[in-house]
Amino acid sequence: TADNVPRAAEDPLFGLMAAYKKDTFDKKVDLGIGAYRDDNAKPWVLPVVKKADDLLRKDPDLNHEYLPIAGLADFTTASQKLVLGADSPAIREKRVVSFQTVSGTGAVHLGGAFLSKFLPQPTPAIYMSSPTWANHNQIFTNVRLPIKSYPYFSSETKMLDFEGMISALSSATKGSIILLHACAHNPTGVDPTQDQWKKIAEVVKAGSHFPFFDCAYQGFASGDLAKDAWAVRYFVEQGFELCVAQSYAKNFGLYGERAGAFHFVTAPGSDAQDTVSRIASQLAILQRSEISNPPAYGARIASMILNDENLFKEWERDLKTMSGRIIEMRKAFRDKLEEFQTPGTWNHITSQIGMFSFTGLNEKQVGILKDKWHIYMTKNGRISMAGLNTHNVTYVAESVSATVKE
Ligand code: LMR
Repeated sequence: TADNVPRAAEDPLFGLMAAYKKDTFDKKVDLGIGAYRDDNAKPWVLPVVKKADDLLRKDPDLNHEYLPIAGLADFTTASQKLVLGADSPAIREKRVVSFQTVSGTGAVHLGGAFLSKFLPQPTPAIYMSSPTWANHNQIFTNVRLPIKSYPYFSSETKMLDFEGMISALSSATKGSIILLHACAHNPTGVDPTQDQWKKIAEVVKAGSHFPFFDCAYQGFASGDLAKDAWAVRYFVEQGFELCVAQSYAKNFGLYGERAGAFHFVTAPGSDAQDTVSRIASQLAILQRSEISNPPAYGARIASMILNDENLFKEWERDLKTMSGRIIEMRKAFRDKLEEFQTPGTWNHITSQIGMFSFTGLNEKQVGILKDKWHIYMTKNGRISMAGLNTHNVTYVAESVSATVKE
């Protein structure tokens, strides 16, 4: 049987990370994986996370027992409030089922597995933005959901292709699943405006589609937790049945701790309590068969911060530190590119938001930047803004400028 296993390609993002690590050039720059770095290109443990971690380690009752299948209840309850809003009608009416997951990836997977198992046959397709986070494709393919895409990014305007998106969603087969990025779209950094979200909601409703939100950057995008959750909350207010995959990798900097949650919100008016308990019973079976129960440590840290008023305020300050530095880097990068008279327009660098910028650099230019200038980014020209800092922004802008002029 081993002879029948074909070789698969290395994961492009983690492959890029390994290539960067091997590079011995002193001015090398990592703009690949979406992980926050401080102004010295170092990983940043949020001060509030350090504080919670210290408190947790001092707790004499801390042990390494299993969590329940659905995870830490204090964590999932606080996570619901964070993403849906403490005053959400769905929470008040007990219409939300929440499971702790192996970060956002695990939440996307649990949602996909659940939908694939319980949607009526023939299974409707899941529509995802073109482009989207590369892993979306793999995760939904693994759970055998048919994949389709809707236009999202216009390479001409470097903005949202709103008309293309609306027209594709309008003609999608009734009852499709529509994957939406709650904020800070990965990889483009381009989000719909609130008015555009309203129109998207209208079209999704008209097609009786099921919205599936991936929320990986709440608070990280704008520094404002409510603003970054606006779209999800708006859809809930509109009475949709929907689900949300929530990651705490970026906004708490808990990347390797794998803290996240999956929320299924049932529609109002249904026999909410009964629906919620049936869905929970099935999610429990999926979870138990795949991971048994989720990892505890990251969720304990997040839970401590989410449930303590003072720590929560400190967290909001830390979020502003991260989002603020990224916004400054956007300005600095654009200024430098313009100062060096780089051909093309660069206003999209400051109008895009969140962790990434979709630069418009092509695959050839990305290759030159890697081979000649030791600057690493994904082939589609996406850069992780957090990889830029006051020490390397001039070097990167100079190199990009030279490459574009080549
Ligand atoms: C990214 O897109 O760089 C991040 O979301 C990290 C990942 O897991 O792909």
